[in-house]
Amino acid sequence: MQLQWNETYATGDAEIDSQHQQIFAYLNELNRKTQHTYSQKWAKDFMETLIHFIRNHFYFEEMVMRKKACLAAKKNKEQHAKLLHILSEKQNDLSKHEYDVESLSRLQTFLSHWFMRHTLHVDIKLRDCI
Ligand SMILES: [Fe+2]
Repeated sequence: MQLQWNETYATGDAEIDSQHQQIFAYLNELNRKTQHTYSQKWAKDFMETLIHFIRNHFYFEEMVMRKKACLAAKKNKEQHAKLLHILSEKQNDLSKHEYDVESLSRLQTFLSHWFMRHTLHVDIKLRDCI
């Protein structure tokens, strides 16, 4: 599925919003690639880059929420930790076998829904603490 960032996803923090847009762009790129052809090397490098970006983004966002004593900070951190756990298991699994198109598409859909839901329900609570 394709994601389209719009103002409903805005947290009020320009850096966090720009990182969310970058995550949407990564997920859209993954969606396009899974509809065409890709090499195993591309898939492996892409997943490593994506996970690295998400990890750094979570770290940054958690720091901002902590600094602003945001009420959603705890819930945010818990959801991040859960997703990183799922992602590292997935990556482990894929790298051991094959980055097949079905698994990558499923992962793309899962992550798209996760980021839409998480951003709209948790991250936008930042608006109340800025
Ligand atoms: Fe978050």
